[in-house]
Amino acid sequence: TDPTTPVVADPDVVDNFAFAFDIDGVLIRGGKPIPEAIEAMKVLNGENEYGIKIPYIFLTNGGGKFEVERCHDLSRQLEIDVSPGQFICGHTPMREFASRYGTVLVIGGEGEKCREVAEGYGFRDVITPGDIMKANEATAPFRQLTAAEHKNSRDLLAGRRGSKVTKLSDIVIEAIFVFADSRDWASDLQIILDVAQSKGGRLETRSETFDEGPPIYFSHSDVLWSAAHEHARLGMGALRNIVETVFTDTTGGKKLNTHAFGKPQVATFEFATRLLQQWRAAQHGLTESEPPATVYFVGDTPESDIRGTNAMNEKSKNEWYSILVKTGVYQAGTEPKYKPRRLVDTVLDAVHWGVKREM
Ligand code: G3P
Ligand code: MG
Repeated sequence: TDPTTPVVADPDVVDNFAFAFDIDGVLIRGGKPIPEAIEAMKVLNGENEYGIKIPYIFLTNGGGKFEVERCHDLSRQLEIDVSPGQFICGHTPMREFASRYGTVLVIGGEGEKCREVAEGYGFRDVITPGDIMKANEATAPFRQLTAAEHKNSRDLLAGRRGSKVTKLSDIVIEAIFVFADSRDWASDLQIILDVAQSKGGRLETRSETFDEGPPIYFSHSDVLWSAAHEHARLGMGALRNIVETVFTDTTGGKKLNTHAFGKPQVATFEFATRLLQQWRAAQHGLTESEPPATVYFVGDTPESDIRGTNAMNEKSKNEWYSILVKTGVYQAGTEPKYKPRRLVDTVLDAVHWGVKREM
């Protein structure tokens, strides 16, 4: 469609409320849709007793792929069309840092994917742990690059633009970004700590003061997340905790402060509000300036989804209403650390509840 053509408001679309969904443990588990999620999407898209359509967006801490690829997966899994215009993942806000830093270390994800995503965001000089291990095989004693990894990793000591680099210590890492879950915690931990303890990010050096490493950004801080296994699995927040703890253990007690994006950061929910506004205007022809009176956020993790929604509700002019489901990290019968406004079994019950409260 022509972006200059104003979208005519659909009379069936509601203006005063909207939904935002967490993905893992609410809509998807272990790559498969939670059956009620497919039904819930149908209700939002007009299959309800009022014949209304309800705008919605997705806000996941997950990542490791381009937003457009993840939307493609989600469209197939949920049997709807999901657009990048209604989708935020853990590393989406990292895009804003692409012009701030030159050489960055990017951690996590499958193969070369996160390097590609970072370069797609505009980062100019992306180094991965594989590149460092290729240049110095002694970096991680128990990790050998596979032939494919060796081939795909950059050759840091040859062919760098300007070519003043003859040894690893000529390279300065300006920031570390953990884009997605580490696939090899031991070598990633070693390399993150090496850089954190270096002289100002210079590879292969050691600081005498341990307070001059580059900033370290994690795309979220979930210690646990909900995958195919019946019990929640360790997430990026667990690696973050290990990095901080072992930094202290190996520097005679120095403290390392790392940063995290994603939920429960209020800035992430503010980002989501702006996206929702643009999406409501672009997709449904609703006014972009006024947010809906209520956004129902449906999540499975009290520490990120419920905590963040409640904090956003405190801060924001409009209402952010937290709904906790029992299909993911939260275990039925336990006391959630952060209390939702409503506790339901599944995402379908959450949608029904929001609609009932509004109509
Ligand atoms: O790595 C993914 C995970 O930590 C959480 O994803 O969709 O539950 O926010 P989500
Ligand atoms: Mg979740």
